[in-house]
Amino acid sequence: MKKERPKNSSQSYKSGLVQLHYEIIEQFTEAQDKIHFKLVDYGSADYKKAVALREEILRKPLGLCFTQEELEREKEHVHIAGFLGQEMCTTAVLVPDGDAMKMQRVASKAQFQGKGIGSALIRFCEEYAKEHGFKSIYCHARDTAVRFYLKNHYGLEGEPFDEDGIPHRKMRKLITR
Ligand SMILES: CC(C)(COP(=O)(O)OP(=O)(O)OC[C@H]1O[C@@H](n2cnc3c(N)ncnc32)[C@H](O)[C@@H]1OP(=O)(O)O)[C@@H](O)C(=O)NCCC(=O)NCCS
Repeated sequence: MKKERPKNSSQSYKSGLVQLHYEIIEQFTEAQDKIHFKLVDYGSADYKKAVALREEILRKPLGLCFTQEELEREKEHVHIAGFLGQEMCTTAVLVPDGDAMKMQRVASKAQFQGKGIGSALIRFCEEYAKEHGFKSIYCHARDTAVRFYLKNHYGLEGEPFDEDGIPHRKMRKLITR
């Protein structure tokens, strides 16, 4: 019987050649169909993976990393991750703030960006916030991500400001039914 090759795999040959196989997610709908989201427990193995993912995407390019104090405060927060198969490809953190939910640390792994996964992630976050009675969801969007949030129907609030040494905008979406 023909053995089915795993979707992402590698094979080494005696010649020294290493062959890599990747499943490429081409379309928004394809990625959207396959992705599944989970709440992740603080301190769990998936939590550590999520921290590594967002550190790689959000902090390292700025020459920064998450401090122990920042991670300590995350005990109280809601951690969300999206998976394609076994692979974590996107993550976000939700922080209750009165009748609003702040969505922060939104990041997709580099090879999965631009495939609809980040939009699916924030829809999941919005549903979670709605189910828990919050009236709106807001974020501090990096300048470079403003377009992403506009596409997902977030509106700009107030003036630009600096955070982590880069320009940001506050953006909000009402989520009441
Ligand atoms: C912003 C980000 C979370 C969006 O996730 P995603 O999986 O790429 O999201 P989607 O595929 O649903 O949305 C695609 C849109 O995101 C934006 N986008 C794509 N790559 C991006 C990147 N590297 N940085 C910022 N925005 C990006 C574009 O507006 C794109 O739309 P377009 O293709 O029509 O231009 C993701 O690109 C990312 O992790 N970027 C780097 C970190 C970051 O800026 N995080 C947000 C902090 S506020």
